[in-house]
Amino acid sequence: MDIEKARERVRELTRQINEHNYRYYVLDQPSVSDYAYDNLLAELISLEKAHPVLQSKNSPSQRVGGQVTKKFPVVKHTYPMLSLGNTYSREELLLFDQRVDRALKEPCEYVCELKFDGVAIGLTYLNGELTRAVTRGDGIQGDEVTENVKTIRSIPLSLDRPGLPPEFEVRGEVIMPHSSFLELNRDKEQEGQPIFANPRNAASGSLKLQDSALVAKRGLDCYSYGLLAPGLPFPTHWDSIQALKTWGFKVAGLTTICRNIDEVFEFIGQCDAQRKALPFDIDGVVIKVNSLAQQEKLGFTSKSPRWAISFKFRAERAMTRLLDVTYQVGRTGAITPVAILEKVAVAGSMVKRASLYNAGKMTELGLHRNDLVYVEKGGDIIPKIVGVDISSRKAGASEIQFITSCPECGTRLRRLDGEALHYCPDNDHCPPQIAGKIEHFIGRRAMNIESLGQGRTVLLVEKNKIRNIADLYDLTYKDLIGLEKVITDPLTHKQRRVSFREKTTRNILRAIEASKKTAFERVLYALGIRHLGESMAKKLARHFCSLDALMEASQNVLLEVEEVGEKTANSIIDYFRNVENLRMIERLKAAGLRFQTGTAAGGGEKPFSGQSFVVSGVFEHYSRDGIKQLIEEQGGELKSSISSKTSYLVAGKNMGPEKRKKAEALNIPIIREDELLQLVKQ
Ligand code: IVH
Repeated sequence: MDIEKARERVRELTRQINEHNYRYYVLDQPSVSDYAYDNLLAELISLEKAHPVLQSKNSPSQRVGGQVTKKFPVVKHTYPMLSLGNTYSREELLLFDQRVDRALKEPCEYVCELKFDGVAIGLTYLNGELTRAVTRGDGIQGDEVTENVKTIRSIPLSLDRPGLPPEFEVRGEVIMPHSSFLELNRDKEQEGQPIFANPRNAASGSLKLQDSALVAKRGLDCYSYGLLAPGLPFPTHWDSIQALKTWGFKVAGLTTICRNIDEVFEFIGQCDAQRKALPFDIDGVVIKVNSLAQQEKLGFTSKSPRWAISFKFRAERAMTRLLDVTYQVGRTGAITPVAILEKVAVAGSMVKRASLYNAGKMTELGLHRNDLVYVEKGGDIIPKIVGVDISSRKAGASEIQFITSCPECGTRLRRLDGEALHYCPDNDHCPPQIAGKIEHFIGRRAMNIESLGQGRTVLLVEKNKIRNIADLYDLTYKDLIGLEKVITDPLTHKQRRVSFREKTTRNILRAIEASKKTAFERVLYALGIRHLGESMAKKLARHFCSLDALMEASQNVLLEVEEVGEKTANSIIDYFRNVENLRMIERLKAAGLRFQTGTAAGGGEKPFSGQSFVVSGVFEHYSRDGIKQLIEEQGGELKSSISSKTSYLVAGKNMGPEKRKKAEALNIPIIREDELLQLVKQ
C-alpha cells in the first residue's frame, strides 16, 4: 500500500477504534464484537509497523502499552491539586451549608458526586491531544505517568471536535474496578506474591509500574470530575461536567444537582444504599457549589476549596470472635495467614474469614486465640481485622504464633531476607504447590490449556495421575476418562463436581497437544520460576533466545538484562540448579515444546528465514523489543551475541562499542533501523 493510501487508512482506523473504545469503555454500549475490534486494532498496528512515520503519539495502538519508564519525572502542576475538607456527620455538613450561605448571602445549588476511592489524576490536553498525566503528589508537584495512563481506555487520547479550549486540564480519579482487583489478587496469590489490600492500593501500584504493557492488563478505569482552563464559557460546574461528557470523558451517572441541603442528604442516603452494588469502591460523596461565580466568591483556604466538602461514609465495623488462624499455601510455596472468624454481618455481607496478609501484619495485631476482634469493611471488598479488644481477653490466653512448618507437608518454612512472606521450600512434593504449579502452567497467559481447569488439576494430582507439568504430556484418554470428584473452592468454599466425560476429555487432550506450539516466551513464563512474571519472561526470551542460553547464564550476565535484579537472577539460577527441574525440562523438550525463539508458527518461507540478527542500542521509531518482534515475525532468528554466523547487527543509538568492534572484525553487516525496515519491505 502506498504511503498516502496508508495514511488515509490509518486515519480511518483511528477514528473507528476511538469510537469503539468510547462506546465500550465510557458508554458501556459496545457496537462491535471483540473479534471485529481486535481486527481493526491489528490492522492499525501492522500499518504503523510498515510505516512508522504514520504512528502518532496518541494512536489507539498505544493502549496496549510497551513503553518502559524507569523513573517517573516529578513535574509541577499547572493548577495546584488541592484536597477536600472531610466530614463524617450530618451536623458538620449542616455547618458547611451555613458557612456557604453566610458568605454568599444568596441561594445556592450544589452538585453532588461520588467520592471515588482511587488515585487522583490531572490530564492535560493541548490542541485536543493528551500530552501529560500527573498524579497528585504533594498537590504542588506530582509524578508524570503519561505512558501508563494512556493504556486506560476510558481516557480519550485525542479529541477531534470544534470549539475545544486550546489547552485544558481534566481532573479525575483512576480506579480499579472490583472485577479487575479480584483477578489481579488471584494472579498475585498464584504467583506467590503479596496481594493488594484494596483496589486503591492496587490502582496506585499499577500506575507506578515501569512497563506500560503490564498496566494495560490491570483493567484500570477513570472517572472525570473537574475541568480547568482559563476563560471557560460555562457558568456552572454542572455545565463543565456535561461538556466533559460530550467530549468523551467518563462521568459518573449518579452525579446530581441538589437545590438545597435536604436534597444533598437525600442523595447521600441513596448513594449509601447503592454503593454496595457499584462495581468500584467509593468512600463518600463530594458536595460542590454549582455556580462558578459563587465558587470564586467563596475561594480557598490554604489546603482546600471553601466551595466543596466531602462527606465520608464511615467504614462499617463489627465485633466478632477470632476462632483460629489457618494458612494457605500458594503455587510458589508462599504462606498466607487467614483469620477464621465467628460469622458476622458487616456492610451487608456475612464475614467468616479475613486475610492477615503475612507474619508481620499478624504480629502487629498481636492476636490471641478467642480474642474479640474488630472487622471492618469500608467500601473495600476484602474484610480486614483493624483491632483487638484487649480488655475482654481472658488471663492466660495464648498468643497465636506464626507457624514454623508447612501446614500441608510439614517442611520447615523459610523467610527470605527483606521479604514479607514465608515460604515452604519443598516445591517439588508439597501437594498444593504441585497443583498450583500445574494450574499456573495451564493458565490462559501461559500454555492456555484452560479446559483442564483448577478443579480437574487438583483431582489429577490427588489421583496421582500427574506430579509435575511434564506428566501432562504423557496423559492418555484412558488415564482420564471417568475420573470425578466433588471439590471445595478454597476461595469461596462453594462445592462443585468436576469430571472427565468423553467430550471434555478429548478437548483437554487436544488442548494439551496444541499447547506444544506455544511460543518460547510463554513456555518460559509457564514454568513458574519465582519472580519471573509475564513481561520479565518476554524480556529474557528475547535476550537469550533459547532456554539453553538462559540456563548457562551467570548472575552477572542475568543482571545485564533490563529490569532483572538480584532477586530474579538468583531465583533463575536456583531453578536450574534443581535436578528435578532439569529432568522435567528434558521431558518437556522431548514432548516437543518450544524452548527457543524464532521458530514462529505458520511455517513457510518468510523474508528473514534462515537469517540471524543481533539487536543493540536504542531506536527511534521502535522500542528494542518492537524491533526484535518485527524480526521474529519476518522469520528471523535473534541472537544475544555476535558470531561469524550472524547475518546482521541492527544498530541503534548508544550501541555498545564492543559489539560494533566485534561485528567489524568478523565482517558482519551493521544496519540502522531504517535499513532494517527497508529490508522488510524488499
Ligand atoms: S474534587 C478542589 N471530586 O478526593 C477539589 N475529588 O480529598 C478537588 N476525589 O484528591 C477534588 N472523588 O482524589 C473531587 N468527585 C470528586 C472526587 C474527588 C474523589 C478525591 C480526589 C482528591 C481527594 C480530595
